[in-house]
Amino acid sequence: MAAVEEAAGIIRAGGIVAVPTETVYGLAADARDSAAVARIYAAKGRPSFNPLIVHVPDLAAAERIAVFDADARALAARFWPGPLTLVLPVRAEAGIASLVTAGLDTIALRVPAHRAMQALLVASGAPLAAPSANASNAISPTRAAHVAASLGGAVALILDDGATATGVESTIVAGRTILRPGPVTMEMLREVLPVAAGTTAHVSAPGQLATHYAPRKPLRLGAVTREAGEWLIGFGAVEGDDTLSASGDLEEAAARLFDALHRADAGERDGIAVAPVPEIGIGVAINDRLRRAAHR
Ligand code: TXA
Ligand code: MG
Repeated sequence: MAAVEEAAGIIRAGGIVAVPTETVYGLAADARDSAAVARIYAAKGRPSFNPLIVHVPDLAAAERIAVFDADARALAARFWPGPLTLVLPVRAEAGIASLVTAGLDTIALRVPAHRAMQALLVASGAPLAAPSANASNAISPTRAAHVAASLGGAVALILDDGATATGVESTIVAGRTILRPGPVTMEMLREVLPVAAGTTAHVSAPGQLATHYAPRKPLRLGAVTREAGEWLIGFGAVEGDDTLSASGDLEEAAARLFDALHRADAGERDGIAVAPVPEIGIGVAINDRLRRAAHR
């Protein structure tokens, strides 16, 4: 694909490009190039203490950057490529820019399952640092149009490969603790390891700021009816102006979540309300993102 070659050229020249993954669109740069990584932080307006996830094409590439123990290898074997990020001790000799890890001695790594991101990893030959491709504290992008609206002129190239399939950011695991709930659910992880949910008190993911996904409008959760001036996003039996999933399918709801929030935020109503979503499976990640979006 010509667009991938163009994107790889921009990466090799120290630039940044927006690229879809199976979760959300990322804003990618060569993780070994500190000037390039600085461009990501600048484009997002992100505080520099917030470390980035590094994407690699496969487990072998990941093992050249971080030290895997038996637990990490078991999780990687089961869930890579896919929406799971592992926090592991970084190898100094891998040459990862310290701006990527924000000075920590650990690194967040994942092998994404998306043809465009995989093609870019191969064509650029670089480990790609890529946070979600939105302005800091704004709603994550699941479509190229969301990236353009949020970052506009700050990004030279957006690889458009349609809406992302999974819709919420990857699950982050450090050791046996879930730092961020995501598409790889606690139930799925527990088929491999006895993991536990991290509490916000002990979150060592500095990016887990409470306001991380805020829309501009007030957001009311657990809504079963629409109040004056609200745009209601339904789920299952709760019909709204829009729905995450009319049939109550949680995977569908996750895939639609950020697009629904983007549309609600861009619309004419003054407030947003969202129907209750069950706290099971990927519903845990959906509710995590909704609570952050509602917090102000
Ligand atoms: O699905 C995803 O993970 C997307 C796509 C683009 O891959 N990326 C993403 O990146 O969500 P970002 O930058 O928005 O979130 C990265 C999270 C932050 O909460 C950050 O604090 C945490 O990963 N993180 C990064 N390095 C870490 C480390 N060494 N220890 C703990 N948390 C870390
Ligand atoms: Mg983000």
